[in-house]
Amino acid sequence: MADLYRNYIGGKWVDARGGATAEVRNPATGEVLGVATQSGAEDVAAAVAAARAAYDPWRKTPAPRRAEVLYRSAELIVERKEELSRMMTREMGKILDETRGDVQEAIDMTYFIAGEGRRLHGYTTPSEMPDKLAFCQRVPLGVAGLITPWNFPLAIPSWKLVPALLAGNTVVLKPAPETPILAALYVRILEEAGVPPGVVNLVLGGDEPGKALVDHPDVAVISFTGSTETGLKVAARCSELGKRVSLEMGGKNAAIVLDDADPDLVADALVWSAFGTTGQRCTACSRIIAEAGVRKLVAETLAERAGQVRIGDGLLPQTQMGPLISSSQLDRVAAYVGIGREEGAKVLVGGSRATGAGLEKGWFFSPTVFDGVKPGMRIAQEEIFGPVVDVIEARDLADAVAIVNGVKYGLSASVFTRDINRALKAVEDIHTGIVYVNHGTTGAEVHLPFGGTKATGNGHREGGLQVLDVFTEWRSVYVDYSGRLQRAQIDVERPARKS
Ligand code: UN1
Repeated sequence: MADLYRNYIGGKWVDARGGATAEVRNPATGEVLGVATQSGAEDVAAAVAAARAAYDPWRKTPAPRRAEVLYRSAELIVERKEELSRMMTREMGKILDETRGDVQEAIDMTYFIAGEGRRLHGYTTPSEMPDKLAFCQRVPLGVAGLITPWNFPLAIPSWKLVPALLAGNTVVLKPAPETPILAALYVRILEEAGVPPGVVNLVLGGDEPGKALVDHPDVAVISFTGSTETGLKVAARCSELGKRVSLEMGGKNAAIVLDDADPDLVADALVWSAFGTTGQRCTACSRIIAEAGVRKLVAETLAERAGQVRIGDGLLPQTQMGPLISSSQLDRVAAYVGIGREEGAKVLVGGSRATGAGLEKGWFFSPTVFDGVKPGMRIAQEEIFGPVVDVIEARDLADAVAIVNGVKYGLSASVFTRDINRALKAVEDIHTGIVYVNHGTTGAEVHLPFGGTKATGNGHREGGLQVLDVFTEWRSVYVDYSGRLQRAQIDVERPARKS
C-alpha cells in the first residue's frame, strides 16, 4: 500500500471529506510515491475555521515565544535535511545537490525570520503635543492563505509560512498538487516543533481548494507563487473581495554578456542558471544577450557544455539534470521548441525529448540552446519553464539593456563584464527586482527582498524584512498623559506669523 498523505486541520490529520485521492509519481521513474487526499471547498472551510479559532491565542502569544517554535522547526529540518532532500528529489525530480539547497533555503529563512521575534520593530516618534506618546507597531492580519508551487516544495512554503506565523497570523497552506508529500513532511515538523493546533493547516489538492481559499471571506491575505495566468485571476478575485494579495509569478530572465567578460565564468554560470532545476525556476536564465564580438563564442561554448550535461534520475550521484515535472510540461517545452524553429531560430543542441538507458520512464528533455534569436520572437518573450535558452545578439550595452527590459516580466537579470563602469550602468538601467553582476540569474539569498517588477508580481516582496509587509499592517498608538484635551493640529502652539 502506498503511503497516504492527508490534510492537517485543527491539529488533526484527516481525509478530504469528498474522499477523492490522487497518486503522486516520481517524474524520473514513474514510481508511485504515495497517494494524496484531494480537497474541496468544504475542507478549506474547515481549515479556515480552525485557523480562525486559533488566531487570537496565537496573536497574543509573545512574538519571541512564537519565534522559539519556529527555531525548533529549523532544528528539526536540519536534523532531517537528507531525508527531506531525497524525498524532494523523488517527488519533483531536481538533483540532490539542488534539493539540499532548497531545504537549506528553508532553514536559512526560518533562522533569519525567527530572529525578528525579538525585534519586529515599529518606531516611536515625537508627538506634536506635550505629554503625549506616539508609536506604531506591526500587527497581524488574521488568517493567511498560502498557495505554493512544486519547483521549491519546501523553500517557498517556508518563505511564506514562517513570516506569517512570526507576525502572529495563522495559516492555511495549499501546496501544488505535484508536491503534497514535502508539504505534509513540513507540516509534521511544525507539529512536532510545537505549533499549536489550528495555527498551521494543510489542504492538499488542485485548483478547487486553491480557489476556495481565495474566495473565503475569513482569509485576510493570499500569498501566491505560480504562473502569471493563475496569479492574475487570483489577484482579480482578491481585488473584488478587498483582500490583500502578494503575487510571485513568471520570469523571462536574461544575462547580458559583454565583450570583455570572462568566457569560462560565463559558461559555468549560464549552464547552471539555464539548466539548473531543469530550467523550472522562475529565476532561470532563458535569454543570453551577447555583444556581437562574443555572441558566436558564447553560443558555441554553451551548446558544447549543454550537450555534456548528464541527464537522469536526480538521486544518482552522476546526474546533473533531472526530468521535467510532468508530461504536460514536456509537451509544452517541445511545443516551444517547435515555435522557435518556425520563427527562424536555430537549435544548436538539444531540442527534443531525451532518450536512452534509464530515461524511458521519465519526462526528460535535452538541454536546448537556440541561436539567432530575435528579441521579439515568442521564444524570447514567453516563459517556457524548461531547459531552453536563447542567444540574442546585441549591438552594445544600451541595446542589450533595452532587450533585457523589452519583455513583460521583470524578475531577475545579470551582466557579465570586467568593466565596473559598464556593470554599474547596467545595474542602473535594468528594470528587474534582482540584478546580478558576474553571476547567472539564479541564487537569491533569503535575507534580501525577492520579487520582480512588471508582470512578475504586484509590488510585494518575499524574503528580507520586506516580507513582513505582506503579513502585517500598522497600528499607530497615541497616549495622551497631559490629563486634558489636546486637539492635534489645533491646540498646537505656533509662533505668530509676521504679516
Ligand atoms: C523560484 O524559482 O521560484 O534565486 C525561486 C533562486 C532561488 C529561488 C528561486 N533561491 O533561484
